[in-house]
Amino acid sequence: MKSIIVSMIAAAGLMVTGSVMAADMPADGKAKCGACHALDKKGVGPAFKDIAAKYKGNKDAVSTLTANITKGGAFGWKMGSMPAKGMGANDAQIKAMAEWIAGLAN
Ligand code: HEC
Repeated sequence: MKSIIVSMIAAAGLMVTGSVMAADMPADGKAKCGACHALDKKGVGPAFKDIAAKYKGNKDAVSTLTANITKGGAFGWKMGSMPAKGMGANDAQIKAMAEWIAGLAN
């Protein structure tokens, strides 16, 4: 019995580590967005997980996020204004971040 509980705890620990690694912010995101955004904590801007929740089930999530990151501005979070393209992200990096953010909802 004891060993079953121990292995269950070990398995749960593995699952948690695995999902954290899968959701870890891409290096480009850390460099160009990380000053204001974190995965699951509010910073200067909203947490990426909260943004993912806002667009969950929205089939246009990736294109909307791509457009919003590119043009910057305010999106109803009442946290101020986001600079266009974050800290100098290029189009490919913006698209990759939009896909990654949208994927966090799953
Ligand atoms: C200087 C700070 C800053 C940087 C750098 C920054 N953001 Fe933001 N971002 C914000 C703020 C502030 C908001 C919230 C605006 C509001 O109140 O609506 C925001 C909002 C967003 C949103 C929400 C859009 C929506 O439709 O709700 C997304 C997505 C986003 N940022 C992605 C990024 C990505 C990706 C990068 C890097 C390429 C980035 N941000 C870099 C400050 C920043």
